[in-house]
Amino acid sequence: MTFRHAAAAITAMLVMSTVAAQTATPAKPATAAPAPAASTAKAGANPATDTATPGMPKAETPTVAANASPAGTAKPGEATAGQGKAAACGACHGIDGNSTDAQYPRLAGQSEQYIAAQLEEFKSGKRVNPIMLGFASSLSEQDMHDIGAYFATQKPLPGVADQALVEQGETLYRQGDTARGIPACMACHGPSGAGNPGAHYPRLTSQHSQYVEARLKAWKASTEPSTDPHTKIMMPIAQKLDDKDIAAVASYIEGLHSNEPTQAAPAGP
Ligand code: HEC
Ligand code: HEC
Repeated sequence: MTFRHAAAAITAMLVMSTVAAQTATPAKPATAAPAPAASTAKAGANPATDTATPGMPKAETPTVAANASPAGTAKPGEATAGQGKAAACGACHGIDGNSTDAQYPRLAGQSEQYIAAQLEEFKSGKRVNPIMLGFASSLSEQDMHDIGAYFATQKPLPGVADQALVEQGETLYRQGDTARGIPACMACHGPSGAGNPGAHYPRLTSQHSQYVEARLKAWKASTEPSTDPHTKIMMPIAQKLDDKDIAAVASYIEGLHSNEPTQAAPAGP
């Protein structure tokens, strides 16, 4: 059985009963794992990133007070403990967090805090995804931190931007569009996309554009205002982007390389 089947099975069970789904969560879908080395991932120089200028003035610096430190009673995660606990995740996200299938987000290099927080949200149902509900529901808070610490230490493989979209994407990312009230993405996600773990701004560097697009479009399409303080930040931003903006900025993000020291670089590359 492939992990897709496993995922479909989870989804089906969820429909029948969430309780059943918890106990039916396959512990080891890793048997269907794609090649772990992710060696087919695109690599290459991306001129877009050569123009990265840390500290460059931005069109607008949002002053959202989003940095209420994420609560949590778990001890800081341990990457070595997390490696074993992350075995089941590799089927989709790649053993080293560099997923080869672009519908699954890359976790390599993502911050422990953000990964743990998202897992908590999947588990509580605040972030709705039937597949991830199945995988998160069996994890303790400590597991989430250990797994987060493991992926945070993995090296993200560079992605490549679509040259036809780079210019528009770069302008949005680095300057936003004041006339339309769109803030510069880099104001929060950093000039090289490294994010800011303390403020719960995720790392975006070299994330699959297909996933970034899907995430932005989901926020854009959402009609219910979110109560989550972090989602509350991204939702109105996504709603100001049109489909072309989304495609452009997503492609630019995939091509971003974290090749310069950034303000709030997390542990790891
Ligand atoms: C069957 C495939 C599959 C498996 C196995 C899987 N995931 Fe996921 N994961 C997904 C999908 C699909 C998404 C995107 C969900 C969405 O669009 O909201 C996701 C999203 C995530 C995210 C959010 C990333 C971000 O950038 O916001 C995290 C964190 C995550 N998964 C961690 C894990 C962990 C940890 C495991 C193992 C315990 C795991 N996943 C196993 C499919 C999978
Ligand atoms: C004011 C700060 C801020 C700005 C400006 C901002 N973001 Fe975000 N972004 C966030 C926060 C906070 C989250 C986490 C949201 C959550 O947890 O629901 C996030 C999440 C994301 C994600 C999801 C990443 C993942 O791994 O799932 C994407 C994609 C994203 N932002 C893209 C953008 C783009 C593109 C722009 C510019 C058009 C932008 N952001 C501007 C704060 C910001």
